[in-house]
Amino acid sequence: MSLFDLSNKVAVVTGATKGIGRGTVERLAEHGARVVVSSRHQVACDKVAAELDEGYGKNGVRIAHGVACDIESLEQIEQLAERAAELFDGIDVLVANAAILPFVGPSAHTPTDLFERILTKNLHNNFRLCQAVRPHMANRGGSIVLIGSLAGLVPFPTLMAYSIAKAGLAHLARCLADEFASDGITVNCVSPGSIRSASSARSGVDEDSRRAAAVPLKRVGEPDDVAGAVIYLASTAGSYVTGVTLPVDGGRSRLSPANRGVPTGHRRLWDVDLNDASESADEALE
Ligand SMILES: NC(=O)c1ccc[n+]([C@@H]2O[C@H](COP(=O)([O-])OP(=O)(O)OC[C@H]3O[C@@H](n4cnc5c(N)ncnc54)[C@H](OP(=O)(O)O)[C@@H]3O)[C@@H](O)[C@H]2O)c1
Repeated sequence: MSLFDLSNKVAVVTGATKGIGRGTVERLAEHGARVVVSSRHQVACDKVAAELDEGYGKNGVRIAHGVACDIESLEQIEQLAERAAELFDGIDVLVANAAILPFVGPSAHTPTDLFERILTKNLHNNFRLCQAVRPHMANRGGSIVLIGSLAGLVPFPTLMAYSIAKAGLAHLARCLADEFASDGITVNCVSPGSIRSASSARSGVDEDSRRAAAVPLKRVGEPDDVAGAVIYLASTAGSYVTGVTLPVDGGRSRLSPANRGVPTGHRRLWDVDLNDASESADEALE
């Protein structure tokens, strides 16, 4: 059996209809997992689930279901955990991937309500999501992968609240690793650098050549780069790893601040609600 085999595992992925999450559910299904595809929109979740069924289902047995959940809602987070466990009789893997980024700009200009929203929804709500899945993972091992960010490892001046929330996720992984070990559950954080996705286009960092120039490996990352790290941590291959933060950034977090490169595109989008701009972001990617 492959060390990376996920047959009979049940994986729940938030923010799974686009970008990193979409790439991750594809690879989880390819490695044998049954998958709960989640994002805010049920229709989009169902569409991705149907694509996974079509690609990886066997003999008409469903291997994927869509369950809408806005990670801004604690009620929906509870419901996601309950519904996912019900659909596939338990949960083995959680990929807490969805995030919000409603403000980009200088820290001093960050409105108080947005600062609080970014911290609460990206950090506290993911903590609640981990708590909600825990009982469904107990006694079957389990792996939680929090999707952090390069911004949580090194400061980005125009993304302060987001950076702090993402740094918090790395520490949340360390804290929960300790606590959840008694249930045999591993908790880790994967911190992507610039990855080609809808949100990276939206925030103006989809200028590939400039972004690639700031990366020691000289390329922008792909969703598969992150998916590979998730598969490792979720499978037997990574089962003795817990409480770590794994940068998936082409080496960028290892650079000195002067060489790290700040996305200039962020400045153009100060005060824009990036969640509301999702359609134009998708268009920009095409
Ligand atoms: N791309 C990068 O360069 C990069 C770098 C570092 C870290 N990250 C992190 O990687 C994760 C994924 O980013 P991405 O670039 O792949 O994003 P993306 O391409 O914009 O996709 C975002 C996904 O999340 C869903 N979503 C948005 N708001 C949500 C909410 N409130 N509740 C639940 N789902 C929500 C979206 O679907 P709906 O709109 O239908 O809800 C979509 O499926 C995020 O945590 C981000 O911080 C990304």
